[in-house]
Amino acid sequence: MSEPQKRAEAIVDLAAIRHNVATLRTRLSSAQLMTVVKADGYGHGMVPVARAARQAGADWIGAAVLEEALDLRAAGDTGPIFCWLTTPGEPLEQAIAAGIDLSAGAPWEIDELAAGVTDRPARVHLKIDTGMSRGGAVPEEWPTLVKAALKEVRAGRIEITGIWSHLSSSDEPKSAANEAQVATFASAVDVAESLGVAPALRHLANSGGTLALPETHFDLVRPGIATYGLSPFGHALPSSELGLRPAMTLRARFAMVKRVPAGAGVSYGLTWTAPKPSTLGLIPLGYGDGLPRHASNGAPVQVAGERHTIVGRICMDQCMVNLGDDEAAAGDEVILFGPGDHGEPTADDWADAAGTINYEIVTRLGARVPRRYVNEETG
Ligand SMILES: Cc1ncc(COP(=O)(O)O)c(C=O)c1O
Repeated sequence: MSEPQKRAEAIVDLAAIRHNVATLRTRLSSAQLMTVVKADGYGHGMVPVARAARQAGADWIGAAVLEEALDLRAAGDTGPIFCWLTTPGEPLEQAIAAGIDLSAGAPWEIDELAAGVTDRPARVHLKIDTGMSRGGAVPEEWPTLVKAALKEVRAGRIEITGIWSHLSSSDEPKSAANEAQVATFASAVDVAESLGVAPALRHLANSGGTLALPETHFDLVRPGIATYGLSPFGHALPSSELGLRPAMTLRARFAMVKRVPAGAGVSYGLTWTAPKPSTLGLIPLGYGDGLPRHASNGAPVQVAGERHTIVGRICMDQCMVNLGDDEAAAGDEVILFGPGDHGEPTADDWADAAGTINYEIVTRLGARVPRRYVNEETG
């Protein structure tokens, strides 16, 4: 009997992940590399991506939330892991005991970390807000944070392993905000040093910084999106020009193909009407799988090597593509996006159709779509 065929799948090329990590490493002179795998590896699968990244030489793995960091340890990752987003009352003791580096941007976080210590000091990266107004201590509060941390260092409860911040505008490398953030970061490091802190790791750069702003590299960089082969700069500087390979291909098989007459309305609200007799392919994926509903009436797909357009509204489980007069049958393959090497649309094309960024297209791909890993390196 032949293998049962899937409704849809996301193929994740782990060789592309390894290639991208290795390519990012070539951009660094002495800085270490942290591969960011938060949000299930930007939708690609956190554990397989982290494993591939380690194989390609990632020194660190970056996770946003505690569950992610603990899941990485549970999956057998014994290397350096940094986790930066916690809320009051979370089980920090587990993370400290697991040797996960954590972030603190306010004195209450230092208190919680110190309280979570059992047999080994908490490893802490102090966060300075250099201008994005997200996490971290604003420069006015920075000395207070550093002093609170130093008090716990003297008590043997914490170890300051890093000072860090995050760039707001590295997708626009010429933005004056980048220079301003670097300057604020450097002066926060000076202040910390004058108070007696000498952390081994100063880090600021995301993918945009890693690729376009060497002055943001310091001791460690934290690229996320570039790991997955997508450009942080969108069409301004596509991934091919950066030497990156998109790792994900989303494909499905038509659940139905049918001919409709001129004047037939399509999908909820009948927002598209066939101008002439047309063949429609029914794709068994919708916003319940993470396709953006905003991409209704415009997102591109590829069928038998030809580009076609989604017509009508994207529903929860399905959407329709106008095949014109092309022939197709239920079960035929439709590629929603991929690396673009064979003319298929890319995550950037879907982002354009939905008015969003490539990050959101891959990251929101739902759990209902099975991931299939190819080019896994074993051993
Ligand atoms: C703190 C932090 N560092 C690094 C990254 C990676 O960013 P990017 O995917 O733009 O490389 C993110 C993601 O937004 C982040 O929140």
